[in-house]
Amino acid sequence: MPQPQPARPGDPLARVDTPALILDLDALDRNIAEMAAFGSRQRIAIRPHAKTHKSPDIALLQIAAGAVGQCCQKVSEAEVLVAGGIGDVLVSNEIIGTAKLDRLAALARRARIGSCVDHRDGVDALASAARRANVTIDVLVEIDVGQRRCGVAPGEAAVALARHVQAAPSLRFRGLQAYHGRAQHLRTHAERREAIASAVAAVKTTHLALKSAGIDCPTVSGAGTGTFDLEAASGVYTELQPGSYVFMDADYARNSGADGKPFTRFGHALFVLATVMSTPEAGRAVVDAGHKVLSVDSGMPILRDHAGAVYQRPADEHGVLDLTACNHRPGLGDQVLIIPGHCDPTVNLHDWYVGVRGLAGRNPHVEAIWPVAARGAHF
Ligand SMILES: Cc1ncc(COP(=O)(O)O)c(C=O)c1O
Repeated sequence: MPQPQPARPGDPLARVDTPALILDLDALDRNIAEMAAFGSRQRIAIRPHAKTHKSPDIALLQIAAGAVGQCCQKVSEAEVLVAGGIGDVLVSNEIIGTAKLDRLAALARRARIGSCVDHRDGVDALASAARRANVTIDVLVEIDVGQRRCGVAPGEAAVALARHVQAAPSLRFRGLQAYHGRAQHLRTHAERREAIASAVAAVKTTHLALKSAGIDCPTVSGAGTGTFDLEAASGVYTELQPGSYVFMDADYARNSGADGKPFTRFGHALFVLATVMSTPEAGRAVVDAGHKVLSVDSGMPILRDHAGAVYQRPADEHGVLDLTACNHRPGLGDQVLIIPGHCDPTVNLHDWYVGVRGLAGRNPHVEAIWPVAARGAHF
């Protein structure tokens, strides 16, 4: 059972019940337009990652702006995207287990579906599921370009696996998955450039090896919000998978851009709205937003409008604000807008997006309520 909606379209922001996941629709539109314009200038496909937003409503906005489709990490996300009208979904991950594979293959009856592999047994299981469902599934061989998560070694191991994919009539080899997650949050552009240079070298080696083996490789997919400009400049990636750019969390705001200044190319569009529920002493306030509404795995959240306030010591339902260095202190009953430390797992805690127009102006109001349709632990 989803929770009740925290507001209704037309409500002023002040009437939204807390804690609530707030989407600044103006900032969201700008972020989507900025990435779409980058893709069309650089002539590279944008396939945004739905692991961030888990929402067909937002996916459709990205596609209307020019995105070629969506990525996701889980079959459950792909199911929600396809049900929401997305016709081209890449699961940028390895899917293992008959139940999941049968669900994935069933989707390929209704949409173009791709998936990643890094083991011959995984290829065989995916091919069998596709055969049982009488569908064809696109396959990217994932290579490890420095993340040390999934993926085969670049070069001959990838060629051998690509050959194995090609031998399965129910699969279509489409190319390489080459995402370098560890590079995304390296703080300086120079560090990220160095990491992606070595990822690009690994991709080029593999691309050449495939070519020598007579295997066509039309797609090289990867990149995230921290490095997409670098993969785009490589000349070898054909498709970018940024996710967080659409919301911009506090952790990404700690990156610096190519000019050495804070990375502000995308604006904060996602907030948790919380209420000050206790002010036990001067300089300390407590808000109704703790671990169950804010993920702190990538560091603490920050407050949008109260410079000097420090969010700390989250408990399940409480967050403590140290206001000793804050000149503009919120009082009991006041609402505060909190920028999450890490957007994806924060979104996964909520049932509803409250889409707000005019958040930066005098009269912010609710325009849309969207479900976080693919939330939850289900894989
Ligand atoms: C495979 C893959 N591609 C793309 C992304 C998107 O990265 P970001 O949210 O940093 O833009 C992720 C994020 O974890 C990912 O795992």
